[in-house]
Amino acid sequence: MEPEDVGTELAEVLIDEQRLAQRVAQLAAAISEDYEGRPPLLVVVLKGAVMFLADLARAIPQSVEMDFMAVSSYGYGTASSGVVRILKDLDVDVRDRHVLLVEDIIDSGLTLSWLLRNLAARSPASLEVCALLRKRDALQVDVDIKYVGFDIPNAFVVGYGLDYAEQYRNLRCIGTLAPDRLPS
Ligand code: IMP
Repeated sequence: MEPEDVGTELAEVLIDEQRLAQRVAQLAAAISEDYEGRPPLLVVVLKGAVMFLADLARAIPQSVEMDFMAVSSYGYGTASSGVVRILKDLDVDVRDRHVLLVEDIIDSGLTLSWLLRNLAARSPASLEVCALLRKRDALQVDVDIKYVGFDIPNAFVVGYGLDYAEQYRNLRCIGTLAPDRLPS
């Protein structure tokens, strides 16, 4: 879906398709250099990070494994509760693996901080985070994120996997919603 297809529901395109592709390629290059000789297991949190994962993984010039988790922290609201429930756990055992957690967006950081504690308890050989977006001003906890795509303002964004009430995930860019579409 193109920005024009969303029409007036979209207030602004924050990051267009081209900038997304360029940054994803840079992240993939950094990851492949850092993980030379120790292939990472990409752990992905559904569903928001799926588009990012698809592009990132294909830009990495070595074979990587992937596994998926689904967690719920928001329901249909928009404020993180910090209370996380695992809806789908990983299929593989991450013990002694080089785990790279691929995230869509870090807002308060509460979901990520819970996930990192959960994964660290499974004794991976290493554990790092690659997040496409980070809302710097919104962070409520101190989390170490090795790879960050873009730091963005503290606004609700959609597109490239990110949704509002399950809508707009297939938008090619990342944008903000018009005020009358904004979550209250
Ligand atoms: P946190 O626990 O506050 O860091 O929230 C992280 C999760 O909330 C992300 O993985 C997203 O699923 C969701 N989220 C946070 N901000 C946004 C946004 O601006 N648009 C869409 N989803 C968001």
